[in-house]
Amino acid sequence: MSNYQHGDSSWFVRDRFGMFIHWGLYSVLARHEWIMTREKIAPQDYEKYQEFFDADKFDAAKWAHLAKEAGMKYVVFTAKHHEGFCMWNTKYTDYKAKRDYVKEITDAFRKEGLHIGLYYSLLDWHHPDFHVDDNHPLRDGDWAELNKNRNQSRYAEYMRNQVTELLTNYGKIDIMWFDYTYPRPTGKNANDWESEKLLAHVRSLQPDILIDDRLGLPGAGDFQSPEQYVPINGMFDDQGKSVVWEGCQTFSGSWGYYRDETTWKNEKQLISMLVDHVSRNGNLLMNVGPNARGQIDVRAQNALKAFHTWMDRNSDSIYNCGQAPAEFPEPDRCRYTYNAEKKRLYVHIMDYPVKFIHLPKLAGKVRFARLLGDHSEVLTSLPSAQHASMSPILPPDTLNLILPSLKPDDQVPVVELFLN
Ligand code: GLC
Repeated sequence: MSNYQHGDSSWFVRDRFGMFIHWGLYSVLARHEWIMTREKIAPQDYEKYQEFFDADKFDAAKWAHLAKEAGMKYVVFTAKHHEGFCMWNTKYTDYKAKRDYVKEITDAFRKEGLHIGLYYSLLDWHHPDFHVDDNHPLRDGDWAELNKNRNQSRYAEYMRNQVTELLTNYGKIDIMWFDYTYPRPTGKNANDWESEKLLAHVRSLQPDILIDDRLGLPGAGDFQSPEQYVPINGMFDDQGKSVVWEGCQTFSGSWGYYRDETTWKNEKQLISMLVDHVSRNGNLLMNVGPNARGQIDVRAQNALKAFHTWMDRNSDSIYNCGQAPAEFPEPDRCRYTYNAEKKRLYVHIMDYPVKFIHLPKLAGKVRFARLLGDHSEVLTSLPSAQHASMSPILPPDTLNLILPSLKPDDQVPVVELFLN
């Protein structure tokens, strides 16, 4: 076990669902947030986009409202991404937006009752002290020459200074999301960020804050942060104990606005993803990448609407829920979530079957079953063999749910079981 202090994750594991926002200069280029380095654009050329970042449609209240409507309980906003452009009024660089977006966004989301998180990139492809490495847009140049006058330690101090601004000028910040460490010989490790110092600094400013696990210090993070995949059995520590984790996912594969990206997930995939996370004790941090005008575009709005529609009817199976106790094995093609306080088990029907769902080991343990969407009763039965050809042969401790033949109008229908 590590000796790191930890923040307060009690609200986090209840909230379960948050909005990630990736918004920066890269939304002008509209070809992925890594565009600067993918296309090896030199800092002095990339800077020119600053003039064309003109977010005339930006309305923080609108974003906050969309998040709230989708059922999201917290937000994580990119104060600075790898390109180095700052989205608040920092006094440590002129490479910043004309408006204090961190202020407007934290105010608006707080007003809607959401918890507030800030993303801060450890990488900085613009800062003159940041050492060129194998991720850097200038990586094809002569590193020794390029790094001759660069002072990485001065950059680490710049980060601490900026973090001071972010954690003192915007009220209570619930999450600090650092991104990321790539400790290969030609990459960067915790020493390059002076991570120990940075971590202690964050804790001293906001003791309860949750910090992700990307500073390169094993055991220091308050939660694990799997990205673009769902850990299908959950996440565990060395002792096999389930840990706090948050999967971060995209609608379309890119985090920043990507105009021509076409691989958008459909509604069923989105809802399934949320269920998959919570059923394995995880949170889902669902990303939106607003465009250069400051709009959440129609595709993203539709995706958020899908969450709204489903959460409006089924959020009781998400908030304050987690993995079901091991004594209740999941039925075929279903995912459980469990609310321990209410003693309710939620059956998410990922793939709607003909007539029955057979719940192993639940005979005699359920007081009432209903569809969560409309609270209508779902009939149950015990295995019996009145008609050998019409009754499946099942272990006697099985409980059958007798489903309506028409699938309820939810992407993933949920049956709520009141346990004895
Ligand atoms: C990454 C990427 C990035 C994105 C982040 C989100 O590591 O560098 O662009 O912001 O993950 O988790």
